[in-house]
Amino acid sequence: MTNPLSTTQFLHGGDYNPDQWLDQPAVIDNDFELFKSAKLNTITVGIFSWAKLEPSEGHYNFGWLDDIFDRAAAQNMQVILSTPSGARPRWLAAKYSEVLRVDENGHRNEFGERHNHCYTSPIYRKKVQLINRKLAERYGQRDNLILWHVSNEYGGQCYCDLCQAAFRDWLKAKYQTLTQLNHAYWNGFWAHAYTDWQQIQAPNPHGDQNVMGLNLDWKRFVTDRTIDFFETEIKPFRELTPNIPVTTNFMGGNPPESHVFYDLDYQKFATHVDIVSWDSYPNWANGYESTAKLAMKTALMNDMMRSLKQDNYLIMENTPSQVNWHPYNRAKRPGMHEMASLQEIAHGADSIMYFQLHQSRGASEMFHGAVITNNLSDQTRVFKDVTTVGADLEAMQAIHATTHRIAEVAIVFDYDNMWALDDARNYANATKQYWVTIQNQYQYFWEHDIPVDVVGTDVDLAAYKLVIDPMHFMMSKGFAAKLKTYVAQGGTLVGTYITGLVDSNFLAYQGSWLPDLQATYGLAVTETDTYYPGQHNQIKAFGNTYESRDYSDILTISDAEVLGTYGQDFYAGSAALTKHVLGQGTAYYLAGRGESALHHDFYQRVATKLQLKSMLPIKKETSNVSIQIRENATMRYYFVINFSHQATQIQFATKLMNVLHGNQNVQGKQSLAAYGVQIFSEKK
Ligand code: GAL
Repeated sequence: MTNPLSTTQFLHGGDYNPDQWLDQPAVIDNDFELFKSAKLNTITVGIFSWAKLEPSEGHYNFGWLDDIFDRAAAQNMQVILSTPSGARPRWLAAKYSEVLRVDENGHRNEFGERHNHCYTSPIYRKKVQLINRKLAERYGQRDNLILWHVSNEYGGQCYCDLCQAAFRDWLKAKYQTLTQLNHAYWNGFWAHAYTDWQQIQAPNPHGDQNVMGLNLDWKRFVTDRTIDFFETEIKPFRELTPNIPVTTNFMGGNPPESHVFYDLDYQKFATHVDIVSWDSYPNWANGYESTAKLAMKTALMNDMMRSLKQDNYLIMENTPSQVNWHPYNRAKRPGMHEMASLQEIAHGADSIMYFQLHQSRGASEMFHGAVITNNLSDQTRVFKDVTTVGADLEAMQAIHATTHRIAEVAIVFDYDNMWALDDARNYANATKQYWVTIQNQYQYFWEHDIPVDVVGTDVDLAAYKLVIDPMHFMMSKGFAAKLKTYVAQGGTLVGTYITGLVDSNFLAYQGSWLPDLQATYGLAVTETDTYYPGQHNQIKAFGNTYESRDYSDILTISDAEVLGTYGQDFYAGSAALTKHVLGQGTAYYLAGRGESALHHDFYQRVATKLQLKSMLPIKKETSNVSIQIRENATMRYYFVINFSHQATQIQFATKLMNVLHGNQNVQGKQSLAAYGVQIFSEKK
């Protein structure tokens, strides 16, 4: 838990691209004036600036960037310097075509777009390292350089010959022999055995797409290749600026919050960065779900990013108003920007950074929200909203960096499992919804202000009172044993339908359900029933009947207590929800996909038994209000946020201090405006 940015304040600022106005210094003068009024303290520069930094091969032009560093220093602004690899200049692609990506059909892309580069190309790696080295040499000793922002939103894949060769090398290192590889891929099926390593190609529409192990290994390889490229990028920084931390901006899901970013295993990637940062673009005011529902999803995404390093993290990008790429680009309603920003701080972010500080005049992002819009005024609603957040962040400096979140509940989320489950030719593609299943488990805890970590399979489970392990389709025997130990030693575990079916090679387990899972849950899963849309079952539990849909595991009980049964179908009356005491702990199995009322009633019982609900000194009237805690050894800070367009009331059980309003004492009752935020503190 050492935040590499712990000496700095909450960062407030964002992507700034003055290289679009180098011929108009007055625009840049005005920008810096406005930065002051908006209470911005940090700029991120250099993203996509390669053509301005190295206009032709080996000819550099750093003058403009020197000037930006100077201007920032003159008004005590910090700089996050980005490497420009996200968009290569035309001259580079024209001279060295291998730097461009090859698509899955084997066609090399033309120059165009951004993020269009091969991660293997030795020339691209060399050129990137060279420009990064120049940046480190020139700016590495600047006092106001605080962080390296490496590239931009790594993602995608390349299918060129160099990448194919690297993939084969990766497979050789993993499997050693073709015999082992053929076994892992079950290549006896459809006469698929490889007899030469050269026969191996990445999965593609004209070749293999149905070798499950190959598909999964390709995804794993793409993560490793991207990390390897990242490591190449940061070599000059580790050498020349060992004290400047390094990050790269991760992404949330798209469409927002319905799933995590799919291309890369961020749990793996996170071990290579010094601090996690991510780009958060929830579609507030979307009209198809309540603000509270979207807030729950956004909270989960933040908790997942925070959990990557079990530490505070940065919001590297968000929009101060609307984006230009959602299906409908709605403006934030009055109050929503502060609500959304402080939500991310509440979950452990140490920054609110924007894309973008100055709106582009032309090209695809000219209408994307910005702090300074094309009317160049400080009188816009957006500018005022940003200034409000700036003032908030200044008022709560004490919370920065030293405070953390403490969770007693963990939800297991695993990338290999996500990819494998989605690729399994079984169940129903439309309803697997692994991330949504995680959201559905998370909801109760969010609504009841119980902090949650989102953890991978290598975490120490003993740190948690409750571990929820939903839809763990691909589970190693080692992890099954770990779950058993966790429960036997006193942990409480919740598992769900579609669990424990294949090993990490994507080969089905033979025989009955995994023995360690049987011992843990006191049952065996014998079948899974998949429903068509509109088909339902019922789960009868706790004296109620809940609707269920999509999936029902059919169970054979050996030792578990039955808490709920199915209401219909040929397995009516059989177990749908079970409890099993093993050693000091308890394992529950939720065999069917129930409605949210079932989750509510079930988790309420579990939470009460485990005394999870912290004794909050603030009472709320509705679950649209969320109370999140950041704390350190001496202080506790409560972020109280109303995710609703209706004002509501909160009540204080003890005297607290109001952080955003001069640390005045508060007691009794107080109203919370629509989309309102308050932060209260108390000594421990
Ligand atoms: C991000 C990207 C930025 C900008 C932004 C627009 O994904 O990193 O460069 O394009 O989206 O919302």
